[in-house]
Amino acid sequence: MHNCPSLPWLANGRFPLYLAPMAGFTDAAFRTLAKEQGADVLVSEFVHAKALLFGDGHYWKTIAFDEIQRPFGVQLFGDEPASMAQAARAVCERLNPDFIDLNFGCPSPRVTGSCAGSALLKDLPQLEKITSAAVNAVGDKIPVTAKTRLGWDSEHIVIDEVLDILQSSGARALVIHARTKAQRYRGHADWETIGRIADKATIPIIANGSITSAADIQAIRARYPKIAGAMIGRAAIGYPWIFSEIKAALRGEVPQPPDLQTRWNTLVRYAELALPRMHGPKPIRALHSALVKLTAGMPNSRTLRLKFNRLENLEQLKQLAREHLAAHQQEGDSLEKPDDRSHIENNFKN
Ligand SMILES: Cc1cc2nc3c(=O)[nH]c(=O)nc-3n(C[C@H](O)[C@H](O)[C@H](O)COP(=O)(O)O)c2cc1C
Repeated sequence: MHNCPSLPWLANGRFPLYLAPMAGFTDAAFRTLAKEQGADVLVSEFVHAKALLFGDGHYWKTIAFDEIQRPFGVQLFGDEPASMAQAARAVCERLNPDFIDLNFGCPSPRVTGSCAGSALLKDLPQLEKITSAAVNAVGDKIPVTAKTRLGWDSEHIVIDEVLDILQSSGARALVIHARTKAQRYRGHADWETIGRIADKATIPIIANGSITSAADIQAIRARYPKIAGAMIGRAAIGYPWIFSEIKAALRGEVPQPPDLQTRWNTLVRYAELALPRMHGPKPIRALHSALVKLTAGMPNSRTLRLKFNRLENLEQLKQLAREHLAAHQQEGDSLEKPDDRSHIENNFKN
């Protein structure tokens, strides 16, 4: 058990549930929904250090957060120490998050092509310089943590070396997404390796990969008692209730999935929270993919998907909710959980 004065949510065996950062899915509005459903710790979608420093204000909007979202981490990625340190300092001064998280795991070619994300698993000296630079820049004010994978591929597992580097550079916690870069998002994550690393680590280790249920949390805690927390990724996409369901099951209750009315209320709330940040002549259209994910498993979700394409404004979305509820509210029993989301990948485009 770790005593973490700078990361109190990890202290005294609390075992927090993190919402994984997922670019394109865990925007500020979705993060609020996850928090309301019981996510303990939130992390921003990753943002490039130089984009923050030299880009337009758009990038600052993607990492903004409300007080209700604390404890909140801002995740940075980049390829060189100076700009990572400068960005970390700027984020601390402007936003004062609870921690700065360094991304050493993104497998997208756009990221690895610029020697950032998981490409740093092939350049551990640079990974060390980046971590030290960020810790030196802000570590006396805000803890610096990291999120990484096991290695580039199964022939090059470097998680032990990465742990040593992070610990000696002053990182305060580590999320291990227990796949290699070559695996991207396929296959079951290797929790056993996370457990082995947690056994020897002096900083808290948070498990990530393939966690979708209370049974998974129980299995991880029972088999690997040194793991300090869990991070949930794709199981939360379009389904913020994963957190309340897991927590209810861990308390020994039978979780009640949300009924149709609750799902629509949440969807409309998502739109209300997200719309003020959207631009363009029909901002509601920018919410299309999130609305599709939030309606997965509802009756006639395919038809809804087409109707979302034609939405003009929030009032029309509310009208669609009323019509759909009137037609289907009696069918509560047929409400399904969204399908498996393990096919969703991080196709980083911007
Ligand atoms: C669409 C998508 C976007 C992602 N974006 C990020 C990101 O911005 N930063 C990051 O550290 N990981 C990112 N990830 C990885 C997730 O945080 C998580 O490590 C991964 O999905 C494994 O967890 P899971 O098996 O529970 O989905 C992303 C994953 C997906 C599917």
